[in-house]
Amino acid sequence: MDRGELLICASGALVDSGRAVRFEVEYFGERAPAFVVRCAGRVHGYLNRCGHMPMELDWREGEVFDLNGRDLICSTHGATYSAASGKCLGGPCGGTPLVALQVEERDGKVYFKGIDDG
Ligand code: FES
Repeated sequence: MDRGELLICASGALVDSGRAVRFEVEYFGERAPAFVVRCAGRVHGYLNRCGHMPMELDWREGEVFDLNGRDLICSTHGATYSAASGKCLGGPCGGTPLVALQVEERDGKVYFKGIDDG
């Protein structure tokens, strides 16, 4: 394991368009909720913080996909995001993407590596 990386979960905990696995990261010196999901076979991670207001996306714990299982949706006012990039696709996020995390899947496990904050 690299210095600083964090084991999030086993690969099998993430199924395509299924429930997110929640965890916490440090963001600007504070604990912040985050999650990983699997989309089209690949694992993606984001801060669990809507681009509209600092609310968590889940409508029920770990449920962040829309009904089609394709995009991520915020349960508060319905902003939608690409599961693959975090890009705002519509609704009140107004172009603000999710904050993407660097995650890596290897040897049957998923690791947090850092934050893509620009
Ligand atoms: S807080 Fe997410 S859409 Fe408003």
